[in-house]
Amino acid sequence: MRVLSLGSLNIDKVYSVDHIVNPKETIESTSYNNFCGGKGLNQSVALARAGADVSHAGMIGEDGTMLADALRESGVRMDLLRTVDGPSGHAVIQIDPHAQNCIIIFGGSNRRITPQYIDEVMEGFDAGDVLLLQNEISGNGYAIEKAHEKGMIVVLNPSPYDSRLDECDYSKVDIFMVNEVEGRLMAGCESEDPQIIRESLKKAFPKAAFVLTLGEAGSCYFKGDEEYFQPIFSVKAVDTTAAGDTFCGYFLSSMALGLPIPQCLKRAAAASAICVSRSGASPSIPTSEEVDAFLK
Ligand code: RIB
Repeated sequence: MRVLSLGSLNIDKVYSVDHIVNPKETIESTSYNNFCGGKGLNQSVALARAGADVSHAGMIGEDGTMLADALRESGVRMDLLRTVDGPSGHAVIQIDPHAQNCIIIFGGSNRRITPQYIDEVMEGFDAGDVLLLQNEISGNGYAIEKAHEKGMIVVLNPSPYDSRLDECDYSKVDIFMVNEVEGRLMAGCESEDPQIIRESLKKAFPKAAFVLTLGEAGSCYFKGDEEYFQPIFSVKAVDTTAAGDTFCGYFLSSMALGLPIPQCLKRAAAASAICVSRSGASPSIPTSEEVDAFLK
């Protein structure tokens, strides 16, 4: 099973701060770094480091060489990546001493994806292959239609959750990867109780499978009556950026490699625990050897 990851690539400008800046306040950052990130890139890197056959499709700008290098160095197939005029996507990220972050993204070249490009990249994929999407690029609605028509398995991580998702036909999505906030919003559910969120999602999307991450409360997979739970692995958190992306990539890679769902959840939980114990987005994503060692 091959994975086509059609998604964003961002240069993450990361500032360590004593606290997340408030309105009308100017604060000084204690350190600054440029990392490779973007939900698409992070998930592709996680998929590849976990052992999947993954091709990344997306657009970088003239300043995006480091993004292409990061994918290549992780073993992601690169032939579908394109460079366009203008800047790449970027993110401005503040990290506080409790490892909490806040993120502003600028779409840049991530918003230059067209139906023509999507047709082109999907040519090499067939029924049974996976299309993985997040919500930081243009063209997701069209990509879902096309992939569904081809019989591909459509996986959507609806993050960040905003009105651009309105173009997506959720009935053509096979697997949703959501955190508790995205899950609540998708289900239109007021309660924060995980059990109620789960039941609301099942009712609203009876045919889809869900991978739901619940922060400290762990994660779960459900589809109809089939349900599995996985607690978190407790570690000292340094930076939570890309923890969700690592989870998605590891879960999907393990699934594509044919592991049973409980194993997929366990590897994903271990990989994201390692990720939060390190700084940066894609540099913090572990290899499968590191995950094996962690689980021993
Ligand atoms: O999920 C983490 C990612 O969100 C960061 O790498 C940043 O680029 C934003 O897209």
